Amino acid sequence: MPSTHFETIKHIINHRRAVFPPSYTGQVIPKELLTELLDCADAAPTHKLTQPWQFVVFREQGLSRLADQLASLYKAHTSPEQFLQKKLESTRDKVLRSGAVMAIVVSYSGLIPQWEELAATACAVQNLWLAASAADIGGYWSSPGTIKHIGDFLGLAENEECLGFFYMGYHNEPPRIANRRPLGEKVRWEE
Ligand SMILES: Cc1cc2nc3c(=O)[nH]c(=O)nc-3n(C[C@H](O)[C@H](O)[C@H](O)COP(=O)(O)O)c2cc1C
Repeated sequence: MPSTHFETIKHIINHRRAVFPPSYTGQVIPKELLTELLDCADAAPTHKLTQPWQFVVFREQGLSRLADQLASLYKAHTSPEQFLQKKLESTRDKVLRSGAVMAIVVSYSGLIPQWEELAATACAVQNLWLAASAADIGGYWSSPGTIKHIGDFLGLAENEECLGFFYMGYHNEPPRIANRRPLGEKVRWEE
């Protein structure tokens, strides 16, 4: 008989989806709840306990500052042929529609290979995403090209790198089934 915990975690994992800002309702996410979600992120596994994840949390007025920054980076780093006014506006709007946006940062310790620090940070983001989903908060990891240029704005050190942004909001999106290739294509059993 599977335990109740197993049934619960399967449900949470299978119901987590990428939920985008157009579906966010604008309801405020309390800071205490964001802290609890970050605690879940912080429980991720980490080789040599380097705990390489860092989160910069934008909410309230911080969202306007981030929206302005992402819009100006898009403008500065997009060629005139590729520039789209609509994209500039949506870059701002999606930040301003969010209950919070977290910059995802990895801090390379030099103690272990960088890929392990990246993997551990991704584990932390998955914990955050699952916990948010279980708290009825939608979210998604966004990794625009402009993150290469956001170091100064975030105040990152030489050994730190921004891996994207986690957008979050209460939402009104109906549940969706995961879109995945068959599991059999990704698993080989040796028996
Ligand atoms: C490392 C990483 C980066 C991602 N970057 C983007 C992105 O820049 N834009 C986007 O729309 N979705 C991004 N996603 C979210 C995926 O599009 C989404 O997870 C995928 O479509 C599967 O949908 P699901 O999460 O609902 O199962 C990213 C996901 C990961 C793990």
